[in-house]
Amino acid sequence: MPYLEWNATFELGIEEFDHHHKFLVDLLNMTYDGLTCEAPRDELGAVLDELINYAGYHFAAEEHWMEVHDYPDAPQHCEEHKKFSTRIMEFQKDFYQEKADLSFEVLQFLNGWLTDHILKTDAGYGRFAQGLLPVAQEDP
Ligand SMILES: [Fe+2]
Repeated sequence: MPYLEWNATFELGIEEFDHHHKFLVDLLNMTYDGLTCEAPRDELGAVLDELINYAGYHFAAEEHWMEVHDYPDAPQHCEEHKKFSTRIMEFQKDFYQEKADLSFEVLQFLNGWLTDHILKTDAGYGRFAQGLLPVAQEDP
């Protein structure tokens, strides 16, 4: 059973971002698998790097979408991305300098942040996007 199981409550209804979020959940589960099977440090580092790189790519895509659609809550949303990126990149640096290990506590932080961010913050632009959909014309 995966560490974090994808479920319908995560879906925003925007295919591109649902696909990104699913892949982030996959990467989180791969990190968990690496930890539970005590994978070598360089393998853990490779999964961690992929997760961080993909999160960066995904945040940039979301931020571009918010800008294009004039999403009013974009500043707070971008701030959450920025805080997360700063924190995780500090951890990445410590990991490579062998000042910190990938642990279940780190996994819990990633899991908590990702779940909370998708369900609360990203859900906001998901609802906003629903309002952008053209309203079907009623027959006269
Ligand atoms: Fe986001």
